[in-house]
Amino acid sequence: PRGLTPGVSTLNVLKETALTDSIDTPATLENGAPAVSNRNSLSLGTNGPLLLHDVHLVETLAHFNRERVPERNPHAKGSGAFGVLETTEDVSRYTKAALFQKGARTEMLARFSTVAGEQGSPDTWRDVRGFALKFYTSEGNYDIVGNNTPIFFVRDPMKFPHFIRSQKRMPHTGLRDNTMQWDFWTSNPESAHQVTYLMGDRGLPRTWRHMNGYGSHTYMWINAEGEKFWIKYHFKTDQGVQCMSNEEAERLAGTDAEYHRRDLFEAIERGEFPSWTLYVQVMPYEDAKDYRFNPFDLTKVWPHSDYPLIKVGRMTLNRNPENFFAEIEQAAFAPSNLVPGTGVSPDKMLLGRVFAYADAQRARIGTNYFQLPVNRPRVKVNSYTFDGHMTFEHTGKAPVYAPNSFGRPFADETGPVEDGWEADGEMVRSAYRLHAEDDDFSQPGTLVREVFDDAQRDRLVKTVAGALASVQEPVLSRAFEYWKNVDATIGERIEQATKDARTK
Ligand code: HEM
Repeated sequence: PRGLTPGVSTLNVLKETALTDSIDTPATLENGAPAVSNRNSLSLGTNGPLLLHDVHLVETLAHFNRERVPERNPHAKGSGAFGVLETTEDVSRYTKAALFQKGARTEMLARFSTVAGEQGSPDTWRDVRGFALKFYTSEGNYDIVGNNTPIFFVRDPMKFPHFIRSQKRMPHTGLRDNTMQWDFWTSNPESAHQVTYLMGDRGLPRTWRHMNGYGSHTYMWINAEGEKFWIKYHFKTDQGVQCMSNEEAERLAGTDAEYHRRDLFEAIERGEFPSWTLYVQVMPYEDAKDYRFNPFDLTKVWPHSDYPLIKVGRMTLNRNPENFFAEIEQAAFAPSNLVPGTGVSPDKMLLGRVFAYADAQRARIGTNYFQLPVNRPRVKVNSYTFDGHMTFEHTGKAPVYAPNSFGRPFADETGPVEDGWEADGEMVRSAYRLHAEDDDFSQPGTLVREVFDDAQRDRLVKTVAGALASVQEPVLSRAFEYWKNVDATIGERIEQATKDARTK
């Protein structure tokens, strides 16, 4: 991989990494004409006023004012790297997608992030981590935009902006606020599973290399015969899961806010390429109808005893970006980027996300964000969208309408779609239809009692009590109830530890 090799001069580094050969060219203005000075503006006499026709100064100041694009609303702080997905196993009985056929090697990009913090916020604040993947497949781009947790806080997209705002800043103080966070969580008990996960050890991964990634939602796979399956993606870190203590995370937040970003970059520079083994859980299509809980509910995991992990392949990150802004900040990951053999599911959150990301990216980056090198598919594109700000690619004089009589291909299939499913008829606003074992507290209870050990339970109590220490009533009492619903003993312990912390 090209990159910053120790011992080379800065200029050589620039030559090594620049995308164009402009580094060897004498300085110019944006129009390519020679620049006179990058250091002195044009004035009337040495101490005199500046002149409006100093094109170079105007260009320098005006472009600087436009250097930033809005940060991602959630997941603003992050970084990433390029790599490859190798499909090592035969899963063709479940999907016909080219990237998942045995022997396929697919170039890809990963971006890891925190959720609530802004661009400059510390990497080591306790938070869910984003695990966003873009695969440049031979059938178009396929994105899996997941997290380092297999579940989420809510199950209806209407709640998502409220959730994110409750984790960000108060409208008057501009401060983050524990009362606001716990007010949202305890008013939405379906959050209990994800909150338990977040307050546990995995809420503070040691590095991005030492955490797993999950597609989290239930997705669809379709095989060559048109048979459909419900699946969940699991990327298990080959570095082993490692977490960080509250104390270390707090120290690093002050001394090295970019700890995770630096770790990934430097590991790849050293040639230590992090990898993850990809597994899927596969549920036969018909099972979903009467499974014991709603298999499309994003707050639930599928027990491995019901649907074991099936190995697919390995993803390795082996190349750092050459330019952070061009390749990471402008990267556009979206659950709407699907390819044949894959699909979405009736998960309402996922259906909301299929709208939200491309819309955010049109606003954040620009209408034609798809044409940027990092987002451009590696296959020929023939879409019927045209023009707009910064159009670079075009189809010349080819017809701009379909159908047309002049040979430009257009799509014209009718009837059922291969990645569809049956749906109820009446329009309603309601929660999912209940399955036998749908409830908000069983799975977090299992997590606390059966997955966490004694030491992890002790740390959970300490972390939650620390977070609740400043929470106001009536939210505080509701938080104690919330934890008692997760597990009676853990709830009692949290209440006691919080009261002790508040009287100190
Ligand atoms: C980023 C919306 C739920 C993972 C974003 C962005 C938006 C968004 C607008 C910024 C996109 C951009 O500017 O490029 C939503 C909505 C959700 C939702 C409306 C619920 C309805 C989720 C869930 C997950 C997730 C459930 C994980 C399973 C991510 C990740 C990013 C992100 C990883 C950062 C992508 C990157 O690295 O560029 N989300 N989100 N989001 N979201 Fe969500």
